[in-house]
Amino acid sequence: MAKLGDRITLQRGKNRGTKPRYMYDIYDKYFDDDMEKMLELGIEKGRSLRHWKERYPNTQIYGLDLNKKCFFEDDRIKCFIGNMADPVFLQSVVDETGLLDVIIDDGAHQSEFNVPAFHALWPYVKSGGFYVVEDLHIIAEVDRKVGRRTGRQFTPINQILQFHSLKAGRMSADREVDYVHWWESLCIIGKK
Ligand SMILES: C[S@@+](CC[C@H](N)C(=O)[O-])C[C@H]1O[C@@H](n2cnc3c(N)ncnc32)[C@H](O)[C@@H]1O
Repeated sequence: MAKLGDRITLQRGKNRGTKPRYMYDIYDKYFDDDMEKMLELGIEKGRSLRHWKERYPNTQIYGLDLNKKCFFEDDRIKCFIGNMADPVFLQSVVDETGLLDVIIDDGAHQSEFNVPAFHALWPYVKSGGFYVVEDLHIIAEVDRKVGRRTGRQFTPINQILQFHSLKAGRMSADREVDYVHWWESLCIIGKK
């Protein structure tokens, strides 16, 4: 099977990739041809969802977005409309999806949305699966502009990991986090 980056960057027009080439190359190292289900936060025009569907013919693809106009359905693609920072909405999503192999956060790109989404969805990552937060440079930039954070790139993820190690009774970082891999503007958190 051709690599994700090769397939996607060769396409043109509305099928063109929405992520930088290096991200597809990184995903190629992690994604498994046999993964059963994946969820992406942030649908926009549905281009990445369609790319996952095309590249992974055995995988059920889910997407969610705040914007109703992003809704579409396809065989093996199911979309949900709601706010990624709303735990009630996210619970209704995972009630339907069940456990997921991969979750990608390409949604609001702001800490106040990334962190609650991670808290709500991490329990639904399968053992051996992983959770990705994309575009950390945008998160840092937005946070810096609105003056909420120091502008340090990794604040949201540090916050996430700190939360889990502090709440060891409920969910321990040592017990559940297998690895945290940093790539350019990308963080991948693996589950034991
Ligand atoms: C970068 S685009 C997603 C691109 C898509 N993943 C792709 O690669 O083709 C980000 C999307 O996140 C959505 N979004 C922004 N804030 C959100 C929120 N609070 N909850 C859910 N979706 C949100 C936007 O409506 C937008 O469609």
